[in-house]
Amino acid sequence: MNTQHTTRALLTLAVIGAAALTGCRGTREDEPPRQFFPDMDDQMKWTPQSSSEMFADGRTLRPVVPNTVAWGRSSATGEEPWAGHWKAMRGDLLKADDVFYTGVEGKNADGTPKYVRTIPKTMPVDVETLLRGQDRYNIYCTACHGYAGDGQGMVAKAGYNPVVPSYFDATFFDSTNNRSLDGYIFHTIRHGKPDAANPEVLTMPAYGHALNERDAWAVVAYVRTLQASRTGTLADVPASKQDALKGKPKPIPATPAPGGAP
Ligand code: HEC
Repeated sequence: MNTQHTTRALLTLAVIGAAALTGCRGTREDEPPRQFFPDMDDQMKWTPQSSSEMFADGRTLRPVVPNTVAWGRSSATGEEPWAGHWKAMRGDLLKADDVFYTGVEGKNADGTPKYVRTIPKTMPVDVETLLRGQDRYNIYCTACHGYAGDGQGMVAKAGYNPVVPSYFDATFFDSTNNRSLDGYIFHTIRHGKPDAANPEVLTMPAYGHALNERDAWAVVAYVRTLQASRTGTLADVPASKQDALKGKPKPIPATPAPGGAP
């Protein structure tokens, strides 16, 4: 190899190198890309309805494995007893009940979401739910909304902008305002409140990551309880329980000594 050949070979290599580099610069073209390292780009695969010699019957679409139980079969229909457990969970797993999972029931005439007025019937509102709601509310909401729900939490007092509303504001009781709707409160808890001018920004943070649907409804029930604590009257209490609320508050019993009182 003489010098001229060597120079030419080097030059050729340099040109190829440069071309390869420019090829990696992300320039767009209509031609299919050159594949220097095809990796797994073009895998062998069977397309639907195609045939294959791999299986004795020549079908690439395989029938279900013997003894597979269709989702939803249960002992009630004389099928596999274990399937009943899954069938019972089906609605939850598929989030089938829209209202329960969104708080929304269709749309208003103007196209805005129609929030449900009351907590869905599928959500029991009992002592257990209220205690759960109180527990979650105290953790996630009090910093801003305050333990009483008057919007005087520590963060609010420190000057949070915008102003944290009090649940006793008239708008929360005005049936023409979304704020009066359980579904809307549920939605605000799960998704936060978008700024009217700039919906990308939330003026109240979303708590969907921390409060699942059941917990969010429990918090709604507790917010209603806080409201009732100020708006309710003795007449709202069942007659049999009214006496307990009259007169002096009962003294709080002393905490028993650990290991049993002497
Ligand atoms: C970081 C402070 C903060 C926390 C924590 C917080 N909120 Fe809020 N919340 C706000 C502010 C601020 C507003 C008013 C937003 C506005 O007017 O744009 C608001 C508004 C609301 C509203 C009324 C929505 C409306 O349309 O005005 C509801 C209902 C509400 N919060 C419930 C809750 C509940 C329940 C929790 C707990 C899960 C919670 N918030 C946690 C700051 C907070």
